[in-house]
Amino acid sequence: MSLRFQWKLTFVLVFISLFFLLFYGLFSHILNSTFLSLFLSLLLIFPLAYAISNFLSRPFLRMVQTASGFVPDLFKAENRLSSGDELERLSKTIEQMGTQLRNRIDEISKERDYLQTVLKGMMEGVLMVDERGRILMVNEALRTLLSLSVDVADRMPLEIIRNAELEAAIRKVLQSGESEAFELTLPSSGGKTFEVNVVGIPSSAEEGDKGSERIKGAIAVFHDITRLKDLERVRQDFVANVSHELRTPLTTIKGYAETLLEGALGEEVAHRFVQVIKRHADRLTKIVEDLLMLSRIESKEFRLKIEAIPVQELIHDVLDYIKGAAEKKRVAVSPAEIPPSLIIEADRNYLEQVFTNLLDNAIKYSPEGGVVRISAIERDQEEIEFSIKDNGIGIPKEDLTRIFERFYRVDKGRSQELGGTGLGLSIVKHIVQAHGGRVWAESQPGEGSIFYFTVPVSKKS
Ligand SMILES: Nc1ncnc2c1ncn2[C@@H]1O[C@H](COP(=O)(O)OP(=O)(O)OP(=O)(O)O)[C@@H](O)[C@H]1O
Ligand SMILES: [Mg+2]
Repeated sequence: MSLRFQWKLTFVLVFISLFFLLFYGLFSHILNSTFLSLFLSLLLIFPLAYAISNFLSRPFLRMVQTASGFVPDLFKAENRLSSGDELERLSKTIEQMGTQLRNRIDEISKERDYLQTVLKGMMEGVLMVDERGRILMVNEALRTLLSLSVDVADRMPLEIIRNAELEAAIRKVLQSGESEAFELTLPSSGGKTFEVNVVGIPSSAEEGDKGSERIKGAIAVFHDITRLKDLERVRQDFVANVSHELRTPLTTIKGYAETLLEGALGEEVAHRFVQVIKRHADRLTKIVEDLLMLSRIESKEFRLKIEAIPVQELIHDVLDYIKGAAEKKRVAVSPAEIPPSLIIEADRNYLEQVFTNLLDNAIKYSPEGGVVRISAIERDQEEIEFSIKDNGIGIPKEDLTRIFERFYRVDKGRSQELGGTGLGLSIVKHIVQAHGGRVWAESQPGEGSIFYFTVPVSKKS
């Protein structure tokens, strides 16, 4: 049977009043002094009133504790108030509120943790601003991409990223709520190119429904598209280069063939024309073969047929192949002392191609009577370093790193005259890298060049 708190209070008051009257009656009967009787009655009633009020106020105290701390223990069944009155109901309500609040807090912190994990794991840079356009946060990726070391909170993006276009886009999104997308090249990121998407954060779904959508901030996402841009540029350059390289021989062949077709040419002239056509057709064939070779090496299916090859034997074979070209140009090609114990792990055919291309260059870019020397030395029992040294025209310093690019020629006219396509060194680089080696060159213009490449040494030897 539960009693309402109001009734409890009423009964207590009546009870205390009755006791007071009882004490007063008793004392005034014995003592015959009103003042003393009143005093003694009050003295006796005080501890009683204190004990009762203490008992009544205990639930309040417990609720105060519960509400102020939301101590989990207070929600345990044994701590639950069971006074059976309004206080019990109030206590239950507070307890429910507490549970709900705790659940909500747990949910929010879980969501915040998820969000933080996502932001941390993102490759893309993220920047969030409030409605005034001031930075709320940037993620780790953006810090790394833009090398940000300063505290960014509450600052304007312009101060941190120093780009007016980004600042203008964020402002526009905050005003209109419409998303913006654009490309950005930032010097602060070392010239990286980003695709930036800026979207507004509506204040809340309900307000949005009412048609009064307010923007309370914006998020800018930075995708690093530098590699994509580079690849696009390389592809465009490659297509332009190939077309250009093919056009010259094709135009020549076409022109000469048309003149031949018109007839009325002496046999001797016609023969010369056919020779020109043949030369350009050979050039076309070489370009196409070189390109096919490059695409073969670059393809995913490309596999080297690795075998252990004695270096002495390999160089001997290569010298045999290029003997004709060397003799024609009267260039002396000779190997330095090569220990017979040197054995490499390589694909014989492709490695011969590397030597052929390098020796072909050494002979081609050397004057008549030039000297070319091949050497091989073992480095740290790990790799064998080959070098091909000539005393030819040499290569200017600024071209040394570029000569391995496709179609790159120091002197285009001279190379073409010598039948070159500018693909030889590019093929060399790809083959050497496929073997796990490196290739580089040193040169002194007018004095000669040295081309180096490495190949792993055979562990079986
Ligand atoms: N030994 C060398 N001495 C001087 N210049 C060289 C030497 N080797 C290469 N070069 C320069 O590097 C450029 C690129 O060489 P690469 O072998 O790739 O092309 P190429 O010889 O012109 O044509 P290809 O080898 O395709 O017939 C050459 O055009 C030349 O200018
Ligand atoms: Mg070459």
